Amino acid sequence: MNPGTIWAIAVLAAALGALAGYRLAKRGAKAQRRQEREREQALLDRVAAGLAHEIKNPLGALSLNVQLLEEELAASGQLSQASRSRLAAISKDYHRLEDVVNNFLRYAAHRRMSVAEADVNALVRELATFVKPDVARANATLNLMLSDSPIVCRVDAPLVKQAFLNVMLNALEAMPSGNGTLDIATEQENGIVRISVKDSGVGIPETDLPRVFDAYFSRKTHGTGLGLAITKRIIEDHDGRIDVESAPGRGTTVTVSLPVAGPAVKESA
Ligand SMILES: Nc1ncnc2c1ncn2[C@@H]1O[C@H](COP(=O)(O)OP(=O)(O)OP(=O)(O)O)[C@@H](O)[C@H]1O
Ligand SMILES: [Mg+2]
Repeated sequence: MNPGTIWAIAVLAAALGALAGYRLAKRGAKAQRRQEREREQALLDRVAAGLAHEIKNPLGALSLNVQLLEEELAASGQLSQASRSRLAAISKDYHRLEDVVNNFLRYAAHRRMSVAEADVNALVRELATFVKPDVARANATLNLMLSDSPIVCRVDAPLVKQAFLNVMLNALEAMPSGNGTLDIATEQENGIVRISVKDSGVGIPETDLPRVFDAYFSRKTHGTGLGLAITKRIIEDHDGRIDVESAPGRGTTVTVSLPVAGPAVKESA
């Protein structure tokens, strides 16, 4: 074998080795992320089970007893205006607590994913129809800029729709004064689909940006702060990622990236 051939083989072998190493490292990082998510989920499952049992059951009993007390007082003619408003206050707090517990359980809920091939463009189109009344109410303009051909991903469609919906609702809520623009675009590149949701709303202050995916982080009076936390979990469960860019006062773009179904996905799984 001449030195040139040996040299070429050596270079090829080194390149293949580097590629294999890169793939292994990528696979390792992915497995580690999955393990972290599984650990986090196991903890959430335990807390959720505890909350459901220790708080939801006594809350149910509390609500029933308040109701019975009100009926008994009314029947005996002892239900004064003051008692009535005290009971109403207890009832209001009960509903608030019930909301807190239910919202947490919604966040913690781990539904076994049921994935099937679906066209991301079709999902986005369905959602655009679904949010039409909200767009009209916000007096906003919705532009869909979807790729010409279908983009097929393996997804749990209801979960992914929930994730996109949370992002779209945030975009609309960020444009309260009307005349805003909501641009939703999809593009496919190197086995990844990018779905971007761009609004011309109030934007996110730089100091808030690292916190928007935290559970219970909200700047809204009636926000739970769970919308983006749930969205992130759903997207990561699909081996995707979600990024936010924002210019305060000018708007925000949220980009979701998901692996496209096909050989490229199997290779790097
Ligand atoms: N498109 C956006 N424009 C401006 N701020 C945003 C946008 N998306 C998210 N945020 C900020 O991130 C915070 C967290 O969003 P998230 O969806 O998790 O909760 P929320 O919208 O406050 O409550 P919920 O989703 O329960 O209604 C919001 O309160 C807001 O401050
Ligand atoms: Mg939200």
